[in-house]
Amino acid sequence: MDLLEHQAQDLFAKHGVPVGRYRVASTAEQAREAATEIGGRVVVKAQVKTGGRGKAGGVKLADDPDSAYDRASAILGMDIKGHTVGRVLVTEASDIADEYYVSLLLDRSNRSFLAMVSRQGGMDIEQVAAENPGALIRLPVDPAEGLTPATAARLCVEAQLPPEVHDGVSDVLVRLWTVFREEDATLVEINPLAKLADGSIRALDGKVTVDDNARFRQSGHAEFVDTAAADPLEALAAAKHLNYVKLDGEVGVIGNGAGLVMSTLDVVAYAGEEFGGVKPANFLDIGGGASAEVMANGLEIILGDPAVRSVFVNVFGGITACDAVADGIVQAIELLTADGAEITKPLVVRLDGNNAEEGRRILSAAALDCVRTVDTMDGAARLAAELAAKGA
Ligand SMILES: Nc1ncnc2c1ncn2[C@@H]1O[C@H](COP(=O)(O)OP(=O)(O)OP(=O)(O)O)[C@@H](O)[C@H]1O
Ligand SMILES: [Mg+2]
Repeated sequence: MDLLEHQAQDLFAKHGVPVGRYRVASTAEQAREAATEIGGRVVVKAQVKTGGRGKAGGVKLADDPDSAYDRASAILGMDIKGHTVGRVLVTEASDIADEYYVSLLLDRSNRSFLAMVSRQGGMDIEQVAAENPGALIRLPVDPAEGLTPATAARLCVEAQLPPEVHDGVSDVLVRLWTVFREEDATLVEINPLAKLADGSIRALDGKVTVDDNARFRQSGHAEFVDTAAADPLEALAAAKHLNYVKLDGEVGVIGNGAGLVMSTLDVVAYAGEEFGGVKPANFLDIGGGASAEVMANGLEIILGDPAVRSVFVNVFGGITACDAVADGIVQAIELLTADGAEITKPLVVRLDGNNAEEGRRILSAAALDCVRTVDTMDGAARLAAELAAKGA
């Protein structure tokens, strides 16, 4: 999950990375109040999860609270590369003497962590890397020993930062490593890390990506999730611990195992071409267990998607055999229709693998109106696509 600048600043402050005073505002009036509280000149900054805010007019200086109000009015609601600005950061204006770039990231290609420092901060770092690669210093960080003061000092020397900022920048780098490790981040970046007129060092921007796989041990990160922006079906699925991703097609897809579901999406999209471009409506992997409850939860979410016209349940029986999955489907449908509700969308079920025949027998014995079984994956995808096109 990518964090907004003000969330990154919260984490910086928590771990002692120096930041200026700041407040978050979602109305121009709040921005005026924030500027009054902070006092003096402030900078009003769009809070969106994309770069280049400055160039897009999303970062503006304001001399006083009234001008902060005007700046915020202009920036709130602005569209920056497809992101609508709903909040602004109001922060004290810093008297900048120099700007640097620092970051720590998970370097997947080298299977290690990487620290980067540049003397040319404040500008697009991709551009620096392309035009003047020597200006961007990279050093690997040993995960066992972390970013030591010695490595931090070496980064400052190699990046040719002015000697008077070495101590301050080294200190920031070591603290930034603490942010990176303790918050389970895959990226922490400060651009610019500024030297102020009084010689002090301060982070004037912040970009942090935290690893969603660590959410189970980062309960504090729940507050960073933008529930308003999340898809309601995805939010419901997450609450039920389902691996669900909303897509924009019409054929609901349920399968067991991420690889099988991925290929199911391809097969449905391919089959759908014949029926006017019908596409998969979602990714949903119900995993190995496939209990009736999990199947019911999955079906409930998919059937609750108004875009869905048909559902393709694609199961390959392994440790959980097809008869158990078939029982799960029958019970799931009983659960979903227990209060008299009717399932109007057709379900195409393909069972293969362990005990597939017994599974099919269970489904046909249950004689469910909404269920059709097809033995092959291609055939089932085709029927699901055809039914979706007809139901549209
Ligand atoms: N608090 C501040 N005080 C003074 N100047 C600031 C402050 N914050 C930002 N600036 C100036 O504005 C420039 C752009 O700010 P910032 O880096 O936050 O946005 P950006 O780089 O345009 O956006 P992004 O990082 O999303 O690409 C900075 O390089 C700095 O010169
Ligand atoms: Mg920046």
